[in-house]
Amino acid sequence: MLKPKATSTPRHESGIYAHIIGWGMAVPDNIMTNDDISAIVETNDEWITTRTGIKERRIAGERESTTTLAHRAAQQALLVANVLPSGLDLIIVATSTPENAFPSTASLVQDRLGAVNAGAFDLSAACSGFVYALDMAAQAIRSGSITTALVIGAETMSRVLDWQDRSTCILFGDGAGAVVLQARTQKGGVLSSVLRSDGAGCDLLYIPTQNHSEAETRKLQKMVMIGSDVFKFANRVVDESIRQAVERAHLTLDDISLIVPHQANQRIIDSIAKKLKLDSSKFVSNLDRYGNTSAASIPIALCEAVQQGRVKADDYLVFVGFGGGLTWAACVVQWGAPAPIEPSRLTSSRRQAEYLLARIRARLQRWQRSISGLFRLLSLRRVRRWFARK
Ligand code: COA
Repeated sequence: MLKPKATSTPRHESGIYAHIIGWGMAVPDNIMTNDDISAIVETNDEWITTRTGIKERRIAGERESTTTLAHRAAQQALLVANVLPSGLDLIIVATSTPENAFPSTASLVQDRLGAVNAGAFDLSAACSGFVYALDMAAQAIRSGSITTALVIGAETMSRVLDWQDRSTCILFGDGAGAVVLQARTQKGGVLSSVLRSDGAGCDLLYIPTQNHSEAETRKLQKMVMIGSDVFKFANRVVDESIRQAVERAHLTLDDISLIVPHQANQRIIDSIAKKLKLDSSKFVSNLDRYGNTSAASIPIALCEAVQQGRVKADDYLVFVGFGGGLTWAACVVQWGAPAPIEPSRLTSSRRQAEYLLARIRARLQRWQRSISGLFRLLSLRRVRRWFARK
């Protein structure tokens, strides 16, 4: 059922809509408070709180990684959606802290889940990555080329921070959030998106990799940021991108129930609210507990908003991200998901069986590779001996 107040939501030509039907999040247990950081760099709780709103963040433990966090969030989202891993057609992981340059973190998650029918790739658009990925998955669903997609934002920012740089290390944290998108004929889901980039600002926020010259790679794989310029950029573009996405969805700002912004800085969120003349209660904010988790921040904030009962069926939501690239992106989603259904025992057992099978399959394939490698080696030796005898 559509909300009567909206004039008309955009009709997607295919008559197929991409609805969010599952959601999940995962954060490390390890909490690092502002006081803990002040033992590492010269800063204090008062400075961090007043300039950013952040009080604490989660830091991945030794056995945690972008993949393990993404995998945990994905399992939760599949459970809520009541979807089996084998029912996924596509997995996109938005991340700036992938497990490897390649293979993609998405492929590692695909393997862990046992999503044997899914394509998988990572998407790099920094803190806007989740909104970009959601749009890509929604477009694939609306085109009719796939039915079900898993979209994940996952980061281990703590591993790319320069822990001597007090202007960056205070801001970020680790975590992952995921949603399952599925095709429906009922109007709603991801209604509109605005994706933008301005590469001229590439030097304001970046993580250099091996491809840089020697001089530039002194702080290889550590984040560099000109904080005040990034702050100004966010204040310049975010409200406008929200207005554009809302307009493209044929709605007005009054129709929007909740805005889920990227969790970078409370002062940025307050400034967007002021510019849009919206009450701050319409904005989700949890950065006091998690800091900036980059591509993971929007799906984590969404999950918490749903858990807190702040999202109702047919509500119009805006997700808005901004960050390195520079990139920024906004989308409007009409929440169509029913209340989480209690999964049947049969589906739950089948999902568990698919997870178990995924583990067994991965191990068997590795054994098979090492055994055939051994055989190749042995037969090579035999050939060499044969030649030696000749
Ligand atoms: N503790 C104490 N002092 C600090 C500090 C810290 N953690 N970090 C910086 N300072 C100092 C600076 O050295 C500077 O001192 P000086 O005046 O003696 O030179 C002073 O505080 C002001 O620095 P400035 O960088 O101008 O502060 P700011 O008000 O711009 O706040 C940020 C810094 C990083 C909090 C702010 O710029 C910001 O949030 N930017 C956006 C960053 C962001 O969101 N990035 C991710 C986008 S996805």
